[in-house]
Amino acid sequence: MYKNKYSCNQSLKNLNTFAIDITAKKIVFVKTIAQLIAISKKCKLYNIPYIILGEASNILFLKNYKGVVIFNRIKGIKIVEQDDSWLLHVNSGEKWHHLVKLTVNLGIFGLENLALIPGCIGSAAIQNIGAYGLEFKDICQYVEIISLKNRSKMKIYNRFCLFSYRNSIFKHKYNHEYAIIKVGIKILKNWKPIILSSIKNYIQTKHVNGHQIFNIICKIRKNKLPDPKKTGNAGSFFKNPIITKKKLQTLVPFYRKIPYFLEKNGLIKISAGWLIEKYQFNNIQIGDATIYQKQKLILINKNNATPQDIIQLARIIYSCILKKFNIALEPEIDFIGPVGKIKSSEILK
Ligand code: FAD
Ligand code: EPU
Repeated sequence: MYKNKYSCNQSLKNLNTFAIDITAKKIVFVKTIAQLIAISKKCKLYNIPYIILGEASNILFLKNYKGVVIFNRIKGIKIVEQDDSWLLHVNSGEKWHHLVKLTVNLGIFGLENLALIPGCIGSAAIQNIGAYGLEFKDICQYVEIISLKNRSKMKIYNRFCLFSYRNSIFKHKYNHEYAIIKVGIKILKNWKPIILSSIKNYIQTKHVNGHQIFNIICKIRKNKLPDPKKTGNAGSFFKNPIITKKKLQTLVPFYRKIPYFLEKNGLIKISAGWLIEKYQFNNIQIGDATIYQKQKLILINKNNATPQDIIQLARIIYSCILKKFNIALEPEIDFIGPVGKIKSSEILK
């Protein structure tokens, strides 16, 4: 009986930013923790796979999903003023950019460098989103999770979240049968703008405020990145590689202009977009999948790309970059197979 309810297929084409034309057995939008628990419990009872998503802006579905796709729409924002800071308690289904805009409009500055990043609050924590010199880890106080097995809740404070570049404990220890339900964000009142060189050119006044930074970031991003409403994409497809100084020294004599940034741990982050640009893939297109010309770290669906088109293109890029620079690119996005997530190492081999 219950199975019959789940036997129809529903389209996900308008519900994933890559705009891949696939289906799920069922799509559910949950607005409360109780609904989330109820649906995951039912799925377990009937042995139906399920996956929790925010806005599906950092994933690629590989095939029709044989289970229930649960879109998290658990909303709510509470702002508490303290002497030196603002504490934001935000439910995980809120949209990240909505929070940024709301706080900037209230004159609470600190999130503006992360403007216009698609997706929900919960995923921002999992992914440790970052842009223009700021990462989620810099403003996170805690992340609250719930076990979908026994309903116990746990608040994990920043230093136990093991945040690093596009990584956190929520991708490892708590990535199965757990859901992020809330995050705590701490914004210090003693605001100082974060101005990277790429932003400097846009600033004309001596004193800059959070509104201006917000507007600049939005302008840069609108110019440089494809709008998922018009062109399917999931942001950067690969991560920027982190290499040793020794490895950098082997590259610099050949590629003097290679952009690189020193990380706090002494390692070097280099630009994957630059490596891809340097390779000169020259209008490569597989089916309807291609490289975005203005930002080559982004793969786009021109219209009707299949997951296989995108994967084939990614494999070509991966193997060419490996051959030319001896650097193995790592995908940034998650891959969703017919019954669940698939390790990226299995996708590119
Ligand atoms: P989804 O894609 O829905 O989910 C991502 C993963 O998190 C999935 O594995 C999912 O199962 C899991 N998940 C989601 N919610 C929960 C939950 N509540 N509990 C448990 N698991 C959950 N990222 C950056 O860091 N910086 C950028 O500048 C940036 N720019 C982008 C620009 C564009 C145009 C696009 C399309 C993407 C960009 N991204 C960027 C990537 C993306 O927006 C972020 O990774 C974002 O945090 C993903 O949010 P989401 O809600 O869409 O996650
Ligand atoms: N570059 C090129 N060609 C390109 C792209 C980049 O030469 O096609 C070089 C340029 O030298 C440029 C530098 O790389 O100055 C950095 O480029 P950009 O500022 O566009 O940033 P990125 O390193 O390519 C990262 C994040 C983005 C984030 C931006 C801004 C990753 C994987 N990507 O991209 O995040 O918005 O910085 O801070 O770290 C995402 O994660 O999905 C994402 C879009």
